[in-house]
Amino acid sequence: MCSFSSLTPMSKRLEGEVAIITGGASGIGETTARLFARHGARVITADVQDDLGEAICKDFKSDGTIHYVHCDVTREEDVKNVVEFAMFKYGKLDIMFNNAGIIGNIEPTILGSDNENLKRVFEVNVYGCFLGAKQAARVMIPAKKGVILFTASLASVISGEAPHAYTMSKHAVVGLMKNLCVELGQHGIRVNSISPGSMATPLLTSAIGKDKVFIEEVIHSTANLKGAVPVVDDVAEAAVFLSSNEA
Ligand SMILES: NC(=O)c1ccc[n+]([C@@H]2O[C@H](COP(=O)([O-])OP(=O)(O)OC[C@H]3O[C@@H](n4cnc5c(N)ncnc54)[C@H](O)[C@@H]3O)[C@@H](O)[C@H]2O)c1
Repeated sequence: MCSFSSLTPMSKRLEGEVAIITGGASGIGETTARLFARHGARVITADVQDDLGEAICKDFKSDGTIHYVHCDVTREEDVKNVVEFAMFKYGKLDIMFNNAGIIGNIEPTILGSDNENLKRVFEVNVYGCFLGAKQAARVMIPAKKGVILFTASLASVISGEAPHAYTMSKHAVVGLMKNLCVELGQHGIRVNSISPGSMATPLLTSAIGKDKVFIEEVIHSTANLKGAVPVVDDVAEAAVFLSSNEA
């Protein structure tokens, strides 16, 4: 894992790039926003947790590389607004990281599953990603370049580990990503998704009602690879790579 503080100017891999990160006020999104900024990107975080989002900006107050815009990814006007903010402020959008997501109700059985919960999980995890990709494509297609990323999940590829609604939604994200690769590749736009395993972010700690230490112990005890626990920094590193020219 890379130590953020050790980055030298020479190792900046996103210099001058403009990125939007949804769900950027917490967990994977927050850590990715901070790492993108340290790699020279100008970052706009988009979330519904305004206090957390604003607090991250304060850490970067001196050079203003992180801005926060309130954005509910299930509202098209909000998503359009954050893309317009990027265009107004910087005149371009290079990276759209559709990362906001919820786990929803953790009831594992089909008979116990709540229909409204399924609709809400799809609204945030699938419709939110669709809107993010659509609004980003609107400005990236004319520019003939761009990177669209999604946070999918291990639940996109492994069965029985997460509730039905969440698993279905994360399969859908991968489907959208693959279809967009085919459509947008001709415009010079790269589309990828990252499928992290379980990590003790607020998404998981609040759903399970246990603290970070407890959850990381469980993750470690069930993992194939011993001696390491997956952390948000690992996903942030993957996002930097996929957003950089090296990808
Ligand atoms: N933590 C894990 O174990 C894990 C594993 C695989 C994938 N993921 C995925 O990673 C992504 C980030 O989750 P995280 O683990 O960092 O959790 P998190 O709860 O720390 O972060 C998710 C962020 O999304 C925001 N969000 C939720 N609904 C929103 C909405 N309607 N509009 C805008 N923002 C909204 C939340 O406010 C929060 O800041 C999610 O898509 C999640 O499904 C997480």
